[in-house]
Amino acid sequence: MAQSVKGMRDLLGVELRWFQHIEETARRVFGCHGYEEIRTPILEELEVFKRSVGESSDIVNKEMYEFTDKGGRQVVMRPENTAGVVRAVIQHKLLNANDPVLLYYIGQQFRYERMQAGRYRQFWQIGAESFGVATPESEAESLLMLHSFLTELGLKRLVFAINSVGTPESRPAFHAAIRAFFAQRSEQFCADCHRRIESNPLRILDCKNEQCQRALAGHPVITEYLDEASARHHARLKELLTELAIPFEETPRLVRGLDYYTRTAFEVLSTDLGAQSALLGGGRYDGLVKHLGGPDVPAFGWAIGLDRLAMVLQQIKTEADAPSRVTSTLLIPLGDRAATAALQLARTIWDAGLALQLETRGGALKKAMASANRMGIQTVLILGDGELDSGTITVKHMASGEQESWPLGAVAARLAAQ
Ligand code: HAM
Repeated sequence: MAQSVKGMRDLLGVELRWFQHIEETARRVFGCHGYEEIRTPILEELEVFKRSVGESSDIVNKEMYEFTDKGGRQVVMRPENTAGVVRAVIQHKLLNANDPVLLYYIGQQFRYERMQAGRYRQFWQIGAESFGVATPESEAESLLMLHSFLTELGLKRLVFAINSVGTPESRPAFHAAIRAFFAQRSEQFCADCHRRIESNPLRILDCKNEQCQRALAGHPVITEYLDEASARHHARLKELLTELAIPFEETPRLVRGLDYYTRTAFEVLSTDLGAQSALLGGGRYDGLVKHLGGPDVPAFGWAIGLDRLAMVLQQIKTEADAPSRVTSTLLIPLGDRAATAALQLARTIWDAGLALQLETRGGALKKAMASANRMGIQTVLILGDGELDSGTITVKHMASGEQESWPLGAVAARLAAQ
């Protein structure tokens, strides 16, 4: 029997209903903030990611699903969506009018990663990107939107871990400091860090190796090497987050695994599951639009892993909170005459915007009732010759086992009132 490819899974049942609930909440909250949806293709040219996420990043180095298509093009199944959105806003000249452009997306991403709980090779992200505004206020607005979205979903124990990674101009001073620090204790660091200190020194700060984390004690702090404007920017963001009562922690080791960040970089951690785990990440990426061939436009955004978010919600919520099936009513016709009448009755109910599942297999009531039980149906409507003759329908409430009779003409109104 064929199985789904390793790291790629089918979404269905309760888990998918959580996904849908999260997606609906996102659309509503982001829509209120003036963000519009964008959907970009899953395949992008290899260059889009090499030039943005960065050649030294783990994503580009080891995790991309890349191949040559039948036309000889080198393409990649997107490992993230920011680069594709930037490519799209440039291609469609959305940034030329100098107005802010606010976009969000919901879609699959692909990374060839080692499997862990909540980590997949095809996973889903919901992300929001804002273009054209360089202010800390725009970051506070985006983080506030994120905070409303997560609290509306029911997450309570959130921490916004924030840092500033400076600008390409101010970073060499920090690189020099961190290299000097590394040189004094280089034997305590892993082979990966030895590679990183050459290609991307910032990345030694978030090495997952425990020995490296210990060796980092007393490391130079990047926010002490910021240029004046970046330092002011960072201080103002912290002031705004304090004003808005968004719980944050200054986190000097937070540098993120993608190369495009400038100034603010952040992650949101949730302790709702006990151990702290990153639910999402993002930051400012002022140079990326220009770097990919567009105008010199600042940008800020983030993306949350939907698989992980759904996992957290499933664990912190009770079964009763789980989004239920839309239909909790089943109409069972008995006999040929009732089968026709049931289709007509069902049509009036559907046309009234109400939910109803119709039993169309024919056959015995017992079999249909057994299915209703397994599907978690709450109300069963039974239509047989007797009911048709008296212009009524038999209604069985599954939880209590009680039975009653409704006039046929009142079914839609009674269902709507339930
Ligand atoms: P990222 O940190 O690579 O950032 O991914 C964001 C989130 O996607 C992670 O925090 C995690 O929840 C989820 N995620 C990543 N990899 C996996 C995986 N293999 N399985 C399940 N979930 C995963 C970005 O992708 C940036 N584009 C964020 C951004 C937007 N920055 C600016 N704008």
